Amino acid sequence: MVGLGPKHPPSRKGSVADIPQDLLKQIKDFEDEFTVNSATLKKVVDHFVSELEKGLSVEGGNIPMNVTWVMGFPDGHEQGTFLALDMGGTNLRVCEITLTEEKSAFDITQSKYRMPEELKTGTAEELWEYIADCLEQFINSHHENEKVSKLPLGFTFSYPATQDYIDHGVLQRWTKGFDIDGVEGKDVVPPLEEILKKRGLPIKVAALINDTTGTLIASAYTDTAMKIGCIFGTGVNAAYMEKVGRIPKLAHMNLPADMDVAINCEYGAFDNEHIVLPLTKYDHIIDRDSPRPGQQAFEKMTAGLYLGEIFRLALLDLLDNHPGLIFNGQDTSELRKPYLLDSSVLAAIEEDPYENLEETEELLERLLKIKATPAELEMVRRLAELIGTRAARLSACGVAAICKKTGMESCHVGADGSVFTKYPHFKERGAQALREILDWAPQEQDKVSIMAAEDGSGVGAALIAALTLKRVKAGNLAGIRNLADMKTLL
Ligand code: BGC
Repeated sequence: MVGLGPKHPPSRKGSVADIPQDLLKQIKDFEDEFTVNSATLKKVVDHFVSELEKGLSVEGGNIPMNVTWVMGFPDGHEQGTFLALDMGGTNLRVCEITLTEEKSAFDITQSKYRMPEELKTGTAEELWEYIADCLEQFINSHHENEKVSKLPLGFTFSYPATQDYIDHGVLQRWTKGFDIDGVEGKDVVPPLEEILKKRGLPIKVAALINDTTGTLIASAYTDTAMKIGCIFGTGVNAAYMEKVGRIPKLAHMNLPADMDVAINCEYGAFDNEHIVLPLTKYDHIIDRDSPRPGQQAFEKMTAGLYLGEIFRLALLDLLDNHPGLIFNGQDTSELRKPYLLDSSVLAAIEEDPYENLEETEELLERLLKIKATPAELEMVRRLAELIGTRAARLSACGVAAICKKTGMESCHVGADGSVFTKYPHFKERGAQALREILDWAPQEQDKVSIMAAEDGSGVGAALIAALTLKRVKAGNLAGIRNLADMKTLL
């Protein structure tokens, strides 16, 4: 579409002059509800730090702080050929990665397969069959008529899973809208391996990993200042390296206290008790109507899966509880469809470069069949800004909490996920929140920088498989289930 109105800077105040008083009042109410000031951020972070600690304790807490059995960072000299499988929300990706002789270098071949929406609420059997189909297709097309020796697989399974071993993972609970029966509470590796065996595929799971751990390891491979791996996407979470001696729940294993192990925080579950998070009535509705009420409180306020829904619920509130205020005389039935708007819609609204918000106007017409007035467009823009800003500022709290908990004053944080890579201003808003929380002086350079990560579920998964085999060879057997099995991959 060609814009006729003059362009304006991306983050503008908007022209409030022409907005009717009653709508202005609503905008003001939204501002009050969604704005998270520095004091609240700090309060959130303080509680976050104690919850991270609690997750490492024997009693445990809301935040799982899962031990991953990824024992230390790569040194850049890892080698070998690995398969990586990433079961994401939208796509399933299979990669073959060769870590080459040159330091921190690799070759990658990959194929993406669409993850059918029905699969997310289907049966466990359908899920494993589909995954096996994709792996089989990949092997057939990339190794046609070749005799392939057993390939170690790094399986990125980005849901909370407790691991007694690195090639083991009991799904605690589905997140991100998945709801497949018969998987929660079970180890996800045996059903996958069983089906691979049945189909005669030369693949063995060497490591089950979380996307955040993969992000951490892949990022540290090329930048040794990377100490935290984060995902700001459909879901949210982070991983970091902890000393075994600081993990009370591992004390019974008598491992060396100065040994490193990556912790997959699963901090989307932060504050499920609703103690410090500034929830609005829309956040309560999202939780109530989700497949898992009472869970993933922090994720439901910050992750891409929910931002568009928060926006839709806020508009619906105006429509139902302030009759005649917006979209007068129009058919608003589309707006009643749950999860109709995803976070890319908010991103597009925030990115509309035109003074008259004509791209937003066109978007609302196309998606909601609503013709908005200029004043309504201003309100919609402000609402998107408020929801996007709140998400970015709260997201910074998780990173700040890990830094505070570990006493890390400066580091790089590798980040990935659709919200981080595609949502406008997310990075700057997050960086600003970090400055406020960590009290850096105005002229001081940012000591903690959140930056784009390397490919965690591809290269990261391969590296973790490589690190696992390397330590098996060296005799570090912490978190290794079956030595004989692992040795078949050496
Ligand atoms: C999952 C995490 C994952 C995060 C980002 C959350 O819903 O529980 O395991 O790391 O999403 O993908």
